Amino acid sequence: MCCNKKCWLIAGTVIGALLVILGGVLIPVGDIIINGEIDKEAVIEEGTIAYENWIVPGSTVYRQFWIFHVSNPNEVIEGAKPILQQKGPYTYLVRHLPKSNITQNTNNTVTFYQPNEAVFQRNMSIGSDDDEYTVLNLAVAAAPGIISEMFLGIVDSAIKQSNSSLFQKRSVREVLWGYRDPFLEAIPNFIISDKTTGVFYPYNGTADGPYVVFNGKDFIQKVALITRYKRQSTLSYWSDDYCDMINGTDAASFPPSVDKNLRLYFFSSEICRSIYGEFEKEYKLRGIKLYRFVVPKLALASPLENPDNHCFCTDLLISRNCTGSGVLDLRACQGGKPIFLSMPHFLYASDFILDSLDGLSPNIEEHQTFVDVEPITGFTMHFAKRLQVNVYFNRTDKIEVLSKLQSEFMFPVVWLNEVGI
Ligand SMILES: *[C@@H]1O[C@H](CO)[C@@H](O)[C@H](O)[C@H]1NC(C)=O
Ligand SMILES: *[C@@H]1O[C@H](CO)[C@@H](O)[C@H](O)[C@H]1NC(C)=O
Ligand SMILES: *[C@@H]1O[C@H](CO)[C@@H](O)[C@H](O)[C@H]1NC(C)=O
Ligand SMILES: *[C@@H]1O[C@H](CO)[C@@H](O)[C@H](O)[C@H]1NC(C)=O
Ligand SMILES: *[C@@H]1O[C@H](CO)[C@@H](O)[C@H](O)[C@H]1NC(C)=O
Ligand SMILES: *[C@@H]1O[C@H](CO)[C@@H](O)[C@H](O)[C@H]1NC(C)=O
Ligand SMILES: *[C@@H]1O[C@H](CO)[C@@H](O)[C@H](O)[C@H]1NC(C)=O
Ligand SMILES: *[C@@H]1O[C@H](CO)[C@@H](O)[C@H](O)[C@H]1NC(C)=O
Repeated sequence: MCCNKKCWLIAGTVIGALLVILGGVLIPVGDIIINGEIDKEAVIEEGTIAYENWIVPGSTVYRQFWIFHVSNPNEVIEGAKPILQQKGPYTYLVRHLPKSNITQNTNNTVTFYQPNEAVFQRNMSIGSDDDEYTVLNLAVAAAPGIISEMFLGIVDSAIKQSNSSLFQKRSVREVLWGYRDPFLEAIPNFIISDKTTGVFYPYNGTADGPYVVFNGKDFIQKVALITRYKRQSTLSYWSDDYCDMINGTDAASFPPSVDKNLRLYFFSSEICRSIYGEFEKEYKLRGIKLYRFVVPKLALASPLENPDNHCFCTDLLISRNCTGSGVLDLRACQGGKPIFLSMPHFLYASDFILDSLDGLSPNIEEHQTFVDVEPITGFTMHFAKRLQVNVYFNRTDKIEVLSKLQSEFMFPVVWLNEVGI
């Protein structure tokens, strides 16, 4: 829960109190006061500071998007290496709607939904979201991955009939939030009935959840930890007890007294897994000491380097016998669509992926994910969640626009930076 003014004040007061303590005056009494205050104010229950920042984040949350424009589409179809240019940022306000259908349960948990809505911010963007670019044709690229091989002849004729190709001109708004696709319309309904597609379609008007989290009233060290998501205490995407674990919070806050020697776990429904941050450094923001936790390279490494990740390796061919790093197969949680997530510009991913495309330049500063946590309260004061959405496809003789490709592709469509300001 990024802090609002009152929350900043509290954190400030805590720090103030701490300074007094360190000044050597109030050591035993101060400790009790501080602990008493935190245990009370960090509980997710009406009237607390934590509650106020939990319902709707105290800070404003934006999503900045960079779209990947393909500058040589015709050549790629004939076997050339794709040349990409990122275009952005296009910024949307998100997470501004209060959590909905909140129920305080009798067992010290809270049930709720997180509603989704994105509102374009022209003054924080390089242009209108009607700006058009040449981007991957999502439906055409994904078709061989979701449609049975015996219908690929129909797919090929639908592509031709609708004048579609592997690439298309689309506006930023369409790519992100959805558009009716002429190729899908040319496909018989019994094969695919939903004719709309888009990277985040559907978004506006949907809600994520239900989530059940601990309110911390009985045990403050459990506050905000997720115990159920979609009525289950584990996921069902990875067919493995470890990879299916729902760990930690949603990263908006963590239980108080954050220990920099421990990992901070959090769950993100968008990446369909739990992940963690590791302590990187301590710094001061507006006079408040914060710990920066970053998602490390190891969290996305191949099972070769990080055996824990064995169950995130789902495809021996695509992952080159589980030696590939830095991409996460979301097919099981995206209804079979060949969507793969990575860090922006394939930061920390295997060279063979990066080498198949031109125009990408990963760097840690711009592309890593971090949360800056106030260690006493566990409140997240600042964060940047960064990820890239890619579509996997391979050469196939059955579809003309895919028949001459240079190789298989983990093809980037867009990357995003979600920040709390
Ligand atoms: C929230 O509750 C309302 C009223 O009971 C219901 O109509 C709505 O479907 C619920 N929202 C979600 C996301 O379940
Ligand atoms: C607590 O109560 C809620 C709502 O009845 C339920 O979904 C949840 O499973 C219960 N227990 C725990 C540990 O989450
Ligand atoms: C989502 O809905 C809001 C409120 O109706 C609207 O302002 C916004 O433009 C919509 N966003 C998109 C991407 O359609
Ligand atoms: C951008 O415009 C919105 C209103 O549409 C305003 O609330 C916001 O403060 C502006 N932001 C900047 C950075 O100018
Ligand atoms: C496809 O292009 C051809 C020739 O340019 C045109 O005659 C036809 O109407 C187009 N079909 C569609 C569905 O746009
Ligand atoms: C979940 O958390 C436990 C510690 O509570 C940890 O051992 C495990 O590695 C985590 N699992 C995942 C998938 O992050
Ligand atoms: C991609 O297609 C080629 C043949 O066109 C094949 O040799 C290769 O195994 C395929 N790769 C995957 C991951 O299926
Ligand atoms: C994967 O392992 C199999 C069996 O050991 C081997 O035949 C194949 O060449 C390996 N593929 C790659 C891409 O390393």
